[in-house]
This record gives sequence, C-alpha cells and structure tokens, in this order.
Amino acid sequence: MKNGFIQILERDHRVIEGYWKKLKKECEKEETQRDVLLCRETFQQFKQAIVAHAKAEETALYSLFESQDSKQFKELRHFSLEGYKEHQLVDQLIHEMNSDLSIDDKWVAQFTVLRELLEHHIEEEEEEFFPQVQSVLSREALNDLAEIYQIEHAEHLKSEKPSNSQFFGNRLNNQSTIDIESAAKK
Ligand SMILES: [Fe+2]
Ligand SMILES: [Fe+2]
Repeated sequence: MKNGFIQILERDHRVIEGYWKKLKKECEKEETQRDVLLCRETFQQFKQAIVAHAKAEETALYSLFESQDSKQFKELRHFSLEGYKEHQLVDQLIHEMNSDLSIDDKWVAQFTVLRELLEHHIEEEEEEFFPQVQSVLSREALNDLAEIYQIEHAEHLKSEKPSNSQFFGNRLNNQSTIDIESAAKK
C-alpha cells in the first residue's frame, strides 16, 4: 500500500494534470475560438500549482538525497539530480509562456512541450522514484517528510512569487532538514 506522503505527492500531480487538461481543452482550439482570458486565468492557476508542488518536493524530498554518494542511495540521488534539472526546464518554459500571454499558436506549441515534459517527469517519479523512496525510508521518516512537504506547499500557495524570476530547480546543495541515516529503514 502506498504511504501517505507518496499519496499526497501523487494527489498534487493529479491537480496539475487537471489544469493542463483544462488548458488543452480551452487553449488548443482554433485561434479564433479561444477564450484568451480563460486561458490566461487557468494558466496562472496551473503555474501556481506547479510552483508550490515543485518547491515543496525539492525541499522535502530531493534535498534529502542530492548529496548522498553511498551505494544504498545512488539511484535515489540520480533521480533527485535529474528531478532538479527537469524542474528547471519546466521553470524556464513557464517563465517564457508567462511573459507572452497572447495565447497564439506559438504559445500553444510551448504549452505542448511543457505538457510532454511534465508527463514524462511525473511518470518517472510515480513509476520509479517514489516506489524506491518508500522502500528505503522508514514510516516515521516518510511522515516527517509529508509534514515538511505540506508546510512548504501551503506557504508557496499563499505567497505570490514574482513571475519573472527563476523560482525553482535551483536548490542544489541545500541541506535537507532530516538526517538520512536515521531516515533509512533499519
Ligand atoms: Fe518533480
Ligand atoms: Fe512531483
């Protein structure tokens, strides 16, 4: 059975997917039929959901493994480093799209690339990364991470981040708030 922390992460993936389905339906129509205001509004909600999730995921999860070089955590470190890089690419695309809200065909093409990138990223996390996290960490550690994630997530949803700055994917070498040795299953 999936641990509560993994369920929370996957629930937020479904929220993000909900927004991109709505954007796909509304904004990939013929240019003359698009409701530009609705596309812009939905894009802002989509952006906010991605930023809050990505930031909280980096703080709670990626930072725990990024500096682990022992054999036990080698693969999890790799997933974390790859995750940071993919978040950074997502961030760049969102930034470009956010500075051009004309919702023209170029914007829609960027949205398609972003959606494909997110689909790949989420699939890899859910199919490969998260199951390994659950098998390596103790239940107590997963509960702690769930708490850290939820606090960070709520904070990022509340605060309005400036739209023209790079807001995630840049946390390399930040220390995790929990200790990996005590977090691993005994
Ligand atoms: Fe991620
Ligand atoms: Fe994620």
